[in-house]
Amino acid sequence: MAVQTEPNPLIAGLERFPVPPTTLVIFGATGDLSRRKLLPALYNLAHEGSLPERFNLVGASRREQSDEEFRAEAKEAIESFSRRPPDEHVLEGLLGRMSYLSVPFDDPAGYERIAARLLELDDEHGAPLNKAHYLSVAPEYFPVIISKLKEHKLNYSREVDVRVVIEKPFGTDLASAQQLQEVVSSAFRESQVFRIDHYLGKETVQNMLALRFSNLMFEPVWSRSYIDHVQITAAEDLGIGSRAGYYDASGALRDLVQNHMMQLVTLLCMEPPVSFDADKVRDEKVKVLDAMRAPTAEEVVHSTVRAQYTGGTVAGEEVPAYREEDGVPDDSRTETYAALRLEVENWRWAGVPIVLRTGKRLARKVTEIAVMLKPVPTTAFGGHEGSVGAQPNQIVMTLQPNEGVSISIGAKIPGTRLRIRPVNMEFNYGTSFMSQSPEAYERLIMDAMRGEATLFTRADEALGQWRIIDPILSAWKDADSEPLESYEAGSAGPEAAERLLGDDRRWRGL
Ligand code: BG6
Repeated sequence: MAVQTEPNPLIAGLERFPVPPTTLVIFGATGDLSRRKLLPALYNLAHEGSLPERFNLVGASRREQSDEEFRAEAKEAIESFSRRPPDEHVLEGLLGRMSYLSVPFDDPAGYERIAARLLELDDEHGAPLNKAHYLSVAPEYFPVIISKLKEHKLNYSREVDVRVVIEKPFGTDLASAQQLQEVVSSAFRESQVFRIDHYLGKETVQNMLALRFSNLMFEPVWSRSYIDHVQITAAEDLGIGSRAGYYDASGALRDLVQNHMMQLVTLLCMEPPVSFDADKVRDEKVKVLDAMRAPTAEEVVHSTVRAQYTGGTVAGEEVPAYREEDGVPDDSRTETYAALRLEVENWRWAGVPIVLRTGKRLARKVTEIAVMLKPVPTTAFGGHEGSVGAQPNQIVMTLQPNEGVSISIGAKIPGTRLRIRPVNMEFNYGTSFMSQSPEAYERLIMDAMRGEATLFTRADEALGQWRIIDPILSAWKDADSEPLESYEAGSAGPEAAERLLGDDRRWRGL
């Protein structure tokens, strides 16, 4: 398939990569993730001509239903959740490539049915197609599906590439992640495994690499010599929706910090890779994790904060307390907010606090990384009335909602006196490229089918993330008899989070 280019001159050079002919099997195809994200992402790939010339989707779920019923459901999901209104012709073409199998995940007969369907599709094509098994199911089914794929020889082919895509969560603590990894590695080689962290599919997350490594101006200041501290925020205004069952067992630390936020830390702190080859990039990220010490129980007390929201007002709407949400036990101690201070103990970063915070039902949705530089050594600009004086520069990468980069610089306030105040230099994705960023899942599904693993979590990364988070979980569990901090829904989070920053530092406003 020829590489096509976009006509928009602002994004000249954007390529579509050839994707080999593939049959994608989605386990859990009738579930929420598939409806909201995967099927709409596939539609948008089809819309852009980015799906392989020969593409089949086999939906596999426990429910009994016909191909027709599955297609009708897929159509409805795409119409409801696609980022662009579907074109009838493209949509019909895609639906025509979909079929459905009822597969109770522990039932050998279900896997026989999958094997037979895959063979039929190969025959129809006249040659074997690549296979990708996407595990969009509750994590307790990961081991059984992976083992059954192996038993039915669906994990490997001598002629084509067979891959497995594993959704989060990859384990619920270090021990369970290690056990899961044993199951995975008994059936698949690491090069076949694509562990999803949807943050890596976001354009703005990838832009961190572009910002750092294609601009000489940032690299000289990117170290403990110039950086005072780093604040990483993933604040959400939404609550837990209909996911009480999952969320109450998980909590903010497992849900967002262990995976998405740790990915942001490693991308921020990694050394320049010798190339953007998947393993070269991931080698550098793992080195950052290796340089982070797992906190002791004593350190957890001082370097972490957890809290749960009480009722309040978010965007003008009254919302209930977490414990009053549908499906949440009224004595739940699950944290809906987590903040922690970490340190990367290597030559570049030693002594620089990296503070993370995330929470549900905060004042607004914002995901950003703020690199706070040290102050200039002179106070000559201070002291004038109406001037805040020279403030430390901030380099803020906003991942959502206003995607871009902003740098605060001190500027002279017009007038006769030399008064200074910070102003922002802004780069905004929307205005600079005049294009809508694709959804993370579009990029990730395409990359998994291409076998391009840079934007997926390698086994040692997943385990490295757990090594740091696991002691926090244990220490929190041991302290479960202590009162839990709270914050009002719609606020900026609990007061207690301020203490993580140390003297003279404040969290950026939400
Ligand atoms: C998911 C979490 O992984 O990420 C959700 O399970 C969270 O609880 C979501 O809301 C946030 O993703 P995004 O892309 O909206 O920042």
